[in-house]
Amino acid sequence: MKKRVFISNLIPAAAYQKLSKRFQVTWNKHQLTEKQWESRIGPYHAVLTTLADPITAKVLNAAPHLKCVANFAVGFNNIDLVTAKANGVCVTNTPDVLTEATADLAWALILSCARRLPEGEKFLRTTGFKGWGPLFLLGQDLAGKTLGIYGFGRIGKAVAQRGRGWNMPVLYHQRHRESPSVEKRYNSRYVSFETLLRQSDILSVNSPLTTETRHRFTSKEFKQMKPNAIFINASRGPIHREADLVKALKAKTITSAGLDVYEFEPKINKCLLKLPNCTLLPHLGSATLETRTKMALLAAENIELVLSGRHPKTSVLR
Ligand code: GLV
Repeated sequence: MKKRVFISNLIPAAAYQKLSKRFQVTWNKHQLTEKQWESRIGPYHAVLTTLADPITAKVLNAAPHLKCVANFAVGFNNIDLVTAKANGVCVTNTPDVLTEATADLAWALILSCARRLPEGEKFLRTTGFKGWGPLFLLGQDLAGKTLGIYGFGRIGKAVAQRGRGWNMPVLYHQRHRESPSVEKRYNSRYVSFETLLRQSDILSVNSPLTTETRHRFTSKEFKQMKPNAIFINASRGPIHREADLVKALKAKTITSAGLDVYEFEPKINKCLLKLPNCTLLPHLGSATLETRTKMALLAAENIELVLSGRHPKTSVLR
């Protein structure tokens, strides 16, 4: 009997094509709630999930045959790792293949905020282009500014790498310090969290969501940042407290924010939607055809490996 695999959402067909050669695959193509997961996961040996799938203890405990949860994302905060481990379920993610696309998107947000692109575009579409103005919609230069990175992993480093094009000195903060050669490669310096807040002109959040990073950026932190600072989050929404960010943007405690993620995603704070000094995107970090196809193939490969008793390529937990 073929092993059974469940694909939870409308992802690139490459994963289905690969998996259906060896397994009996069910392709669901839309989002399931926790309750729906609980009632459907029972027969499957592996599930290919997306970041909005709540793979909680309840869901995992309703899956007696489950050997692998292959998340179609680099983040895996949607999965209860403790229960997965206790149940002997391997959890995998899709790092590396999405690093460049996600760093590009963080930079799209940086440029958009620095040059006030949403304001310019909205003005042109609503009021109409009235002609060039010497004082119209002035933004700020990026060349030589200090780029601060919170979470200096693969994506944080790729964001720093792009900063070289603007001759930006990089400050970073995370739990551990990198080796001197890595620091040199990225023109970067390890600093305390407080220094990162006080000295960054651009502060980009690139860390995973953990109990330690949840609400790391609240009113207290925004008040320590420079008034010209641009806050970027293309990682996970709950790392900043959204209501506090709204206050900081309204009061011009910081200049602007570029967000790809939201605290209560997909819900967005209504006040945020009305503020001119932010660029808001609907979680597009890895959203290119090439990258999403690579993610689908990597997740499928991880399932193939685990179900044939081998080590997955990119495991979070085994
Ligand atoms: C996207 O947010 C991811 O974690 O891959």
